[in-house]
Amino acid sequence: MSEPILTVDDLRVSYGRVEAVRGVSFQAAPGSLVTLVGANGAGKSSVINAVSGMLRPAGGRITFEGQDITRTPAHKLVGRGLVQVPEGRQILATLTIEENLQMGAWHSGGRGQTGGEAAGSVEAMYDRFPVLAERRGLPAGALSGGEQQMLAIARALVAAPKVMLMDEPSMGLAPKIVDEVFRVIEEIRASGTTVVLVEQNARRALRAADHGYVLQSGEVVHSGPAAELLADERIVQAYLGVDSAS
Ligand SMILES: Nc1ncnc2c1ncn2[C@@H]1O[C@H](COP(=O)(O)OP(=O)(O)OP(=O)(O)O)[C@@H](O)[C@H]1O
Ligand SMILES: [Mg+2]
Repeated sequence: MSEPILTVDDLRVSYGRVEAVRGVSFQAAPGSLVTLVGANGAGKSSVINAVSGMLRPAGGRITFEGQDITRTPAHKLVGRGLVQVPEGRQILATLTIEENLQMGAWHSGGRGQTGGEAAGSVEAMYDRFPVLAERRGLPAGALSGGEQQMLAIARALVAAPKVMLMDEPSMGLAPKIVDEVFRVIEEIRASGTTVVLVEQNARRALRAADHGYVLQSGEVVHSGPAAELLADERIVQAYLGVDSAS
């Protein structure tokens, strides 16, 4: 594998006495799609929030483009191209769609204007997500759940991410919308952006991914090429069984 763009080494996250992440390590090659899967409470969000700088790890080391970012706050990482699409979308419901997208550009400290392949400007997002263009002047709260998820993704893309972190982007969405979200994720990856995807919908995430890591109780219990994990009957039975037929 080429030099990873993101390396997480022996990461630990604690909430008071609760050790939520107990020595997790993983890597992402540039342009790859890596997924962390696991049941409720396995520590997936804790890992991704530590990587994006939203919470401070209790231990371990996180490296982005060869530089230690273990204690770099989220707003600085956005400017450098490491951007998280938050769980539960967290769009600003009373602001318009356009204003939400402009916030993405603002958070990126201008990187969006000169940005990479995947992104660029608010205008570019309208080309990519016509449903947002039609409604740019409406409050974001008027969008459906699926459309709000698209807006959250678009807002992150305005920041021209090199690495995009996504926490359960398909959660709570109807199957047809889940398909659409996964199509967008695959497009983002195809445009050269590295994607780290956290999902309870493990089968689905592994089908889209190059590489997978199975988390349980704050530890990586299996990892490998996504296709190999999916083909391993024991792993499917033990960890992916809760999935629906999707
Ligand atoms: N703010 C918090 N305070 C205390 N404990 C927390 C906090 N956030 C998470 N935890 C605990 O840390 C562990 C890991 O939680 P985390 O949210 O990272 O798991 P997850 O894999 O993302 O779960 P889910 O699939 O439900 O989103 C769980 O035991 C959870 O109860
Ligand atoms: Mg979570």
